[in-house]
Amino acid sequence: MNSTHPRACDWKFEDLRPNIMGIDTMVPVLDGSRVPYVFLDNGASTPSFKHAFEVMGEFMPFYSGVHRGTGFKSLLATQVFDEAHDLAGAFVRADLERNTVIFLKNTTEAVNKLANRCDWRDGDVVITTLMEHHSDDLPWRKHAHVIHVGVDDKGYLDMDALRDAFARNRGKVRFLAATGASNISGIINPVHELAEIAHANGALMFVDAAQLAPHRPIDVLPDDDPGHIDFIAYSAHKMYAPFGIGVLIGSKEYFSQGDPDMVGGGVVDIVETDYVAFSAPPAREEAGSPNVPGAVALAAAIHMLMKVGMDRIAEHEHLLVSYAIEKMKDVPGMRLYGPVEKDELKNKVGVISFDIDGVPHAKVAAILSAEGGIGVRNGCFCAHPYVKRLLQVDKETADRITEEILSGDRTNLPGMVRASFGCYNNIDDVDRFVAMLHRIGSGEFTGDYVLDRRSGTYWPRHFNYDFSSYFPHFSFRPTTSITEFTEAS
Ligand SMILES: Cc1ncc(COP(=O)(O)O)c(C=O)c1O
Repeated sequence: MNSTHPRACDWKFEDLRPNIMGIDTMVPVLDGSRVPYVFLDNGASTPSFKHAFEVMGEFMPFYSGVHRGTGFKSLLATQVFDEAHDLAGAFVRADLERNTVIFLKNTTEAVNKLANRCDWRDGDVVITTLMEHHSDDLPWRKHAHVIHVGVDDKGYLDMDALRDAFARNRGKVRFLAATGASNISGIINPVHELAEIAHANGALMFVDAAQLAPHRPIDVLPDDDPGHIDFIAYSAHKMYAPFGIGVLIGSKEYFSQGDPDMVGGGVVDIVETDYVAFSAPPAREEAGSPNVPGAVALAAAIHMLMKVGMDRIAEHEHLLVSYAIEKMKDVPGMRLYGPVEKDELKNKVGVISFDIDGVPHAKVAAILSAEGGIGVRNGCFCAHPYVKRLLQVDKETADRITEEILSGDRTNLPGMVRASFGCYNNIDDVDRFVAMLHRIGSGEFTGDYVLDRRSGTYWPRHFNYDFSSYFPHFSFRPTTSITEFTEAS
């Protein structure tokens, strides 16, 4: 496939929006018309850059297994794959003499890998935070005693509690694992300060950069700097290359000790029936045939982001978030979570969580979609403890809701609505979003919405999306059978 776009070296900020696949997609809304889709769920997954998709397409005629083939295509593919590793490391300024870049499926797999590969001892502790996505919490719980450092009412990490947790567990803490930016409040953690605290206490620093990498420049700092981030992970599907690649970066030494957690083809130098010599990282940590096209797409996306400049992207997203929050404050019944004051927004990525008084979060999300053609997300966003803390759900209520959920009723599921921006969103997107919020806040939406108690989702009565007229390659079931829904109270 020939690229119709300028080469990576020409990219400018203005190229980003037209380079988004599906930016002009028209979607159906309740009044029977079609409107341009506004995608505000970039915190979950971003659309692809056309450039990433096209470079992947240009590569496909050469697609071949890597590392062991001797043919031309395999040699080319191997070089491309290896170079993609280097670029993924350069994106966070990792010293690749001492560190390795491991390609996995996503951030979740990366954290699991990191946790699986530690030489745990009895009594080991991992300190993490209440802000974490479950992906930077549950993998640690399988191996160590996990301490969740709390947050204040706005969602900021309690630094005194963090220091205290280290003091109370002297000599036992192996990792401090913290998110670079929260997928709920957008708060950016002071990761280098956290790393200094971890190192001063003999622990290693892991940063979950799934929400940070698409929005801010990252520098893990030299390995001998006290603020150095020892391990970092991020996902390609959150940075415009959604083709199944996750990145884990950390010291070669760490991944050279012990046996890999997953074994099979590709991880060894030699195998006898009674002897195995594992390869050097990253190969020993990338069992099986790797996702070479996904790696190519990630490299192309990174190239584009780096050429545009992450500082430039951060500046744009800051403007967008500041504008959106100021406008949202005027919406009737609006409750915003996380930092909302002007001077706080520099340290917040483009994630805004909110709800509207008197309208369940799931209903707000349903109306935005059905009447506004706006894609957001609602619920607890894989960070249940943090969301409950920000919503100030007390223990008794949380326990009661847990009972209800376990019995199959999600009517009272706590949660928020989340709008999350990408580098390509613009003021028009925000204006359309805020206009719909005003309609919702003042009760001027038109649909009649019913609730499915089992899933906790709302649906406009007598409305069905006809997916097959948009994507004819699959046969779709009706999106929902209204008869299955219980009338909302
Ligand atoms: C902060 C954070 N960490 C980790 C993850 C998990 O990423 P993935 O689904 O790519 O494994 C997410 C996904 O939303 C996230 O927001």
